[in-house]
Amino acid sequence: MELYLDTANLEEIREIAGWGVLSGVTTNPTLVAKEFAARGERLTEEGLAAHLRAICEAAGGPVSAEVTALEAEAMVAEGRRLAALHPQIVVKLPTTEEGLKACRRLSTEGVRVNMTLIFSANQALLAARAGASYVSPFLGRVDDISWDGGQLLREIVEMVQVQDLPVRVIAASIRHPRHVTEAALLGADIATMPHAVFKQLLKHPLTDLGLKRFMEDWEKVKP
Ligand code: E4P
Repeated sequence: MELYLDTANLEEIREIAGWGVLSGVTTNPTLVAKEFAARGERLTEEGLAAHLRAICEAAGGPVSAEVTALEAEAMVAEGRRLAALHPQIVVKLPTTEEGLKACRRLSTEGVRVNMTLIFSANQALLAARAGASYVSPFLGRVDDISWDGGQLLREIVEMVQVQDLPVRVIAASIRHPRHVTEAALLGADIATMPHAVFKQLLKHPLTDLGLKRFMEDWEKVKP
């Protein structure tokens, strides 16, 4: 399973890319808005384009950039503009009627599409039939409403395998390290997670303690 960062923050991307384990990045309008607000910068077309290009360079893999249009024609136009920014851009579309129409058109033109906000296996099936390259079921948001995000992912992964659908499954809306383990065990192709979860994946108190002890013992006898 590949590991993606779910962020629009360049420092976070550069840090995790530096570990040598980052395969891609996903963004969404909330994450982009948060990033520009944090920098006190007004969001402009040019500013967004430059920022997405910088994310692509830092990520070194696919970068999902989401459209904000809600109607198919406008989604297609926005998707084309996003895809033209950088060869690594994957256009992210919401799983709605208009999103499906736009997905069909963009994917037919050779633009890679990530269908987002997926909360059922049937939505994933529709997205795959519309030519999506990726589907993004939202585990955490399903768990948030006391349903089972793992069950959603299990059904989608199984359906993709049974039906031999040419689509990659991104486990999204990851809230904690256990979600990442679950996603890997269930056979997701990719898990996309916030920077904080990436850091949690690595941290273990016994690793820190073990290393401290090794160093102390070594200090006593080192040549
Ligand atoms: C996925 O691509 C989305 O950007 C993201 O995973 C949503 O996560 P959230 O539920 O934490 O906002």
